[in-house]
This record gives sequence, structure tokens and C-alpha cells, in this order.
Amino acid sequence: MSNAALERAEAAKLPQDDIIGILLTQHARIRELLAEVHVTLGDARRAKFAELRALLAVHEAAEEMILRPVARRTAGEDEAAARNAEEREAERILAGLEQMNPERSQFEAKLTEFEKAFRDHADSEELEEFPAVRDGCSQEQRQRMGRRLLRAERAAPTHPHPATAGAAAAQWAAAPFESLVDRARDALSGSRAPR
Ligand SMILES: [Fe+2]
Ligand SMILES: [Fe+2]
Repeated sequence: MSNAALERAEAAKLPQDDIIGILLTQHARIRELLAEVHVTLGDARRAKFAELRALLAVHEAAEEMILRPVARRTAGEDEAAARNAEEREAERILAGLEQMNPERSQFEAKLTEFEKAFRDHADSEELEEFPAVRDGCSQEQRQRMGRRLLRAERAAPTHPHPATAGAAAAQWAAAPFESLVDRARDALSGSRAPR
């Protein structure tokens, strides 16, 4: 089975709003989107790349704001700091990628570099960070964290709904990754649930 299939199988064993299951499903989708960007061209490639950027923005912002504070306690400071540093490095590679013409060979090379960085990062999260958070939190806590992520995902204007595509979507697609992450962070800040 591919990594994405294993991640989906693992997520399927957890309640739908469990933060770990949601993050595993997002890893699977990011891996699939990376493969799809590689094999498409033209407008299709641009659309897949836009979808990838939007999902990455929500995913990494949610890990930073919801998962990592808990991981600091359950997996340790060093572990959390290493994952945060990898995310900043991935963000740097992605910022370079979005300056490039997706039709050019440099884009392919940079995409391969990003894919490798993402795979190593996601593998470390799944091997070290996610198990520590699973063991260190109750099911109830993990579902509360997951619901916060889902609320923020719905609120974050990083993902254009097909029905609202048009000027707003075009503007959104052109926004730099950094600003997508900021929007996702804002949505997460506003998504703290009344307990
Ligand atoms: Fe991450
Ligand atoms: Fe992740």
C-alpha cells in the first residue's frame, strides 16, 4: 500500500473529528496532490497547485497552533521545535516555487525538492509526534482539537468553493502562501470553542 493509502486506513479507525485522523487524511491528500501536480500541465497543473497551497496553509497552521502546543508537553520541546523548523523550511521552498512558471523545468525540480522535504517532515510527524499526542491526550481532547480544526477550515477563506469561483477565487489563487497561512491562523484564533 502507498503511504497515502496507509494514512487513510489509519484515519478510518479513528472518530471522524479526531485531530490525528484529520491530519493523517490531510497528509494523504497532500501526497496525492503533489503527485497530481507532477503529472498535469497547463491550467490543470495551476489548479492542482492552488489546491495544494490552500490545503498546506490550513494543515501547517493547524499543526502549529493546535497540535504543537500539546506536542511540546507529550513529545518534548526538541521534537516540537524540530517540526516547527521543518515547516518554516518547507514554507521557504514553497515561496520559491510559487514565483516560478509551472510550465518550466525549474518548477519541476523545485517541486521535487519540496516533495522530499514534505515527505520527510510528514514521516517524522507520524512516527514521533502523532503517537505522542495520541498517547498523551484523551479521545475527548483529540476530538475537541479536531473540531476546532474543522471549524477553522470552514471559516478560512483559503479554499474557494466551486460555487463561489470567480473574481474572489482568482484573487485568492494569486495570494502568496505566507498570506494564506496568515488567514488560516486568523481563522484558528477565532475558532476556540466555548468548552
Ligand atoms: Fe507539519
Ligand atoms: Fe503534517
